[in-house]
Amino acid sequence: MNYGFETLAIHAGQEPDPRTGAVVPPIYATSTYAQDEVGAPRLGYEYSRSANPTRTALQECLAAIEGGQVGLAFASGLAAEDTLLRTVCRPGDHVVIPDDAYGGTYRLFAKVLHRWGLNWTAAKLSDPDAVRAAIRPGQTKVIWVETPTNPLLNIADLPALAAIAHEAQALLAVDNTFASPYLQQPLALGADVVVHSTTKYLGGHSDVIGGALIAADRGLGEELTYHQNAMGGVPGPFDAWLTLRGIKTLGVRMDRHCDNAERIVDYLSAHRAVAEVRYPGLPDHPGHEVAAKQMRRFGGMISFRAAGGEAQAVDICNRTKLFVLAESLGGVESLIEHPGRMTHASAAGSPLEVPADLVRLSVGIETADDLLADLEQALG
Ligand SMILES: Cc1ncc(COP(=O)(O)O)c(C=O)c1O
Repeated sequence: MNYGFETLAIHAGQEPDPRTGAVVPPIYATSTYAQDEVGAPRLGYEYSRSANPTRTALQECLAAIEGGQVGLAFASGLAAEDTLLRTVCRPGDHVVIPDDAYGGTYRLFAKVLHRWGLNWTAAKLSDPDAVRAAIRPGQTKVIWVETPTNPLLNIADLPALAAIAHEAQALLAVDNTFASPYLQQPLALGADVVVHSTTKYLGGHSDVIGGALIAADRGLGEELTYHQNAMGGVPGPFDAWLTLRGIKTLGVRMDRHCDNAERIVDYLSAHRAVAEVRYPGLPDHPGHEVAAKQMRRFGGMISFRAAGGEAQAVDICNRTKLFVLAESLGGVESLIEHPGRMTHASAAGSPLEVPADLVRLSVGIETADDLLADLEQALG
């Protein structure tokens, strides 16, 4: 469909139900499907681990909004990641990972897939030469990218990394959770596969856990589809439906997340309790120029370092009232957290450890003045 982003988000995979005219895809709460004859399932549906019509609607929408050939939905972002890695890698292979990835992604590589025989090297992905140096010719099968990264909001140049990956005959996998497909389209920039925690901006309302993979080409998409069924990490139809409903408003939500984040960045940048603000929209952010080329706007995530160190960072997190102290991000409500002790605690003592004075904000879509007043009372 040659439609704009918002139109695809609302309509792709979501034709009115041919039988009843229902405008919204029904929740098909069924594990199995009646067959007309042995070996003749209707419309290909035989068992809901393999396929479910509510999930199909979500998957078609995911493929459309990321511009891929095949979209697949999973029970969580980590289930999607595990399925991708065990589809395209074998024991003995090697992957390059960011030196500041989401802590759970790092744990999957370091504690789970490493035992299975997958080797990894952490590299500074904002530096293409460091990535090239981390490649092990013949062994490296994936370059794993987050941009912006969680939680330091570093930026990686996607076309440059795609060229390095393809030269090494590796895949470029991009976790697009922080940007969302409204702000950044990795497949159009050369990536082979996009990963999402749909728990975040795609779901958008902090009421569902989910993940997604979107493959640029049909061959990889078919292999992933096979493994989605063979490994079984699928979402139920209620979760698929909630995620699909969230996606419909992604564009308008992202614009408001960005508007509010820009106001908060201005405020924090001038505050004496703040040593450094990390936001790719700031002209002095080292990745600003690359971000401006590959992102529509700079997103709703902000990290900052407290001038008073770790104790002050923790104190700020404890003092906000409107910003809820909680893990996760990307919902309509604003959240605050201390990555070192919360989302990234699993990276402590590793090359991916985050600064102890760092505070991360997921800026929601509330009234901006109320968010600023809350920060004002918390920063003191
Ligand atoms: C960037 C990023 N990728 C992946 C994940 C994992 O997703 P999930 O929690 O849905 O398994 C998260 C979760 O916070 C994340 O922030």
